[in-house]
Order: sequence, then structure tokens, then C-alpha cells
Amino acid sequence: MFTKRHLISTRDFSKDEIDFLLSRAEELEKFARGREQGWGWGEGEGEREGEEESDLLKGKILANLFYEPSTRTRLSFETAMKRLGGEVLNLYSTETSSVTKGENLADTIRTVSGYCDAIVLRHPREGASRMAASLASVPVINAGDGAGQHPTQTLLDLYTLKKEGLLENLRIALVGDLKYGRTVHSLAYALALYGATLFFVSPEALRMPEEVKMDLRAAGTAEAEAAGAAGAGAGAGAEVFETSDLSAVVKEVDVLYVTRIQKERFPDPAEYRKVAGAYRVTRGLLKENEDLVIMHPLPRVDEIDAAVDGTKNARYFKQAFYGVPVRMAVLSTLLGAGGERRREGEEKQGASKNARGNRRNSGVGEEAPRTLRERTADDRERECYEQHGKDAARF
Ligand code: CP
Repeated sequence: MFTKRHLISTRDFSKDEIDFLLSRAEELEKFARGREQGWGWGEGEGEREGEEESDLLKGKILANLFYEPSTRTRLSFETAMKRLGGEVLNLYSTETSSVTKGENLADTIRTVSGYCDAIVLRHPREGASRMAASLASVPVINAGDGAGQHPTQTLLDLYTLKKEGLLENLRIALVGDLKYGRTVHSLAYALALYGATLFFVSPEALRMPEEVKMDLRAAGTAEAEAAGAAGAGAGAGAEVFETSDLSAVVKEVDVLYVTRIQKERFPDPAEYRKVAGAYRVTRGLLKENEDLVIMHPLPRVDEIDAAVDGTKNARYFKQAFYGVPVRMAVLSTLLGAGGERRREGEEKQGASKNARGNRRNSGVGEEAPRTLRERTADDRERECYEQHGKDAARF
């Protein structure tokens, strides 16, 4: 069941559960723009008459705790909650809260748990959300933990791909900062569940971490076992290619998922300067593959030329809008407002969860069994948690 669960990592959810959330987002999208707005994206654009209102989350309160800057994630969570009739508390920044007085994350989480029905947390330290989840008495949603994970971004990325009819067996290049980029860490794993072929395009110094690649090689194996899949390719894991040459992959893929090289994550500014501006998507590049879909979690700096914005290839602002229905789906499901119904194949999902013993079930107060295998991204996250989490005052 979905209710009373935390959402910390993409790996906390099976493919069936992700599919459920994406379907739920489709059901809720009609509430995402509100009734009066005369502007929209794609089908039905400008036809706001008859849009429906919802009070699905009336009486519920969400606490947005952002220890790092955000535009899209914080505001779309707030929009999602309010469009469904709920209310939002905001800790916009550490400067305006008791964090400046020296309060640690653990005490903040214990306190805020008493004020709300769910917590959205963004924090610069990897493992912070997992630690918060271990202390909270309400569901915690990871809105980005350092270079770790950003699972609701992944859900909206998958939703964008689904709306484009591209979700299954996609050929996609993840471009830019693959070392520190939490969006690509979360997304790569989820894409592997859908049979994607992944091209990792980055400077040598910003390669995808080994533990993420390890998880990708294993991805699909337990899913396939649980589904009783057999035959060639079943459980083979994701096909992954790595290169530093963007132009070499442009003709090979359906989607370029471009990311910003994140200056703030580099311990040494000199190292940032070596890779800054490594990639730039231009109209000229699009001539190589006219059907290429360009996605980006945003914010961008200069990695996509503004001249690309007006092309049929650009999807990144539409993608950002999809954060609203997707976060509506997440909130309503975790808060037990319409997402708690038993679904077809739930028994199979339970089996899947057991087979994927490496995935931590984030049930509040529960810890799912794990199987021992090589060090994976999940292990990396746990190590971060253990390293820093024992001393909660360090967060
Ligand atoms: N994509 C994303 O997380 O954007 P923000 O940092 O603006 O929330």
C-alpha cells in the first residue's frame, strides 16, 4: 500500500508502483492549472472552461523544508497541494528559521512532524532525507539531498516521456554533470526499469558514479524474476554506453536529457572551471536529428541555447509544468486521498518487492529486508546515512 510511506529514492518504488503514480498524475492533471487560467500547454490550450476543482487534500497540511534554493520543486509542491485544497507551511531558507540559531535537522524534523501531514525536504547533504524519514512521524518526500536523489523529479521526467509516447524502450542520452547530478542518478535507475538504452555523456571528471552503474546493470533482474519473465534479455539489466562526445550520440537517441554542471557541488572551483561550458545544445546540433526531444530538469545556465526554446524539440518548460500533476499524485497517494485503493496485480507487486530485496521499503517505522551483493547506489546512500546520520547534529 502507498499510504504512510516515505519517498526518498527511486529505488524505493517498483515499476508497478511508478506506473500507478503516473496514471494517477494523468487523472489529476485536469486540476493542475486551476479553473480561471486561460493559458496552458498542448491539447486543450486556452480551453480552461470546465476545468475542475478538487478538495481531495482539504484539511491536510504540507511542510516544505528547503535548506537549498529551489524554484520548481518548492513551488510545484505548493501549487499541487493548494490546487487539491490543502495548505502549505514553508521554510524557504535556513536564514529565516531557527537553523541560524544552530538547530539541527533532527530536532527540526521532530518538531515539524507535529505541525503537518507530510514533509518535503531539500537538503545539501546526501542521506539527509533518509535520516529525516527515520525520525518523522509523517511521510517525508526527498526533494533533493545533495548529489544523492531527486525522486519526484524523476517521476515528472517519466511522466513527460509517457505523454510523448516515449517511455518504453527509449534511447536516451543523459548529458552534463552525471557525477553530482541527483536528477540523473534517480532517473537512470527508473529508465532502466522501462528497458531504456542509456548513453552517458559527460566530461571524464563528471562520469556517472560506479555504484549507480552497478545498480543499472542489476536493474530489471529482480523485476523480471518477480514478473516470471523468461527468455533472451529478461533481467539483463540496462544497456549503458559512456562517452564525452555529445555529437557522437545525437543521431543515436530519441531524447537528450541535458543537465547543468553544478558549480555549487565542486569542492575545488578550479575543477569546475575545467568543465564549465563543456556542452551546449544549439539549433545547429538539432539539424543532426530533427526529431530529437530535448529535456532538462532546469535551472539551466548556458547548456541549452535560448534559440532552442522555440523549436518543436524543446520540452523543458512543459516538463516543469508536469511537476504539478505528478506531485499531486504523490501527495494524494502518500496521504491516502484516493491513492490507497488496491490495484490489479498488487500480489505481484508484493512479490516484486520481496525479490528486490535491495530496495528499502520506506514504510514509516519499517525497514525492509536487504540482500547482500556488490556495493550499489543504495549502499552508497546507506553509507552516507550511517556516516553522517548517527551524528544528527551534523546535518
Ligand atoms: N528541477 C529542480 O529541482 O528545480 P529547482 O531546483 O528549481 O527546484
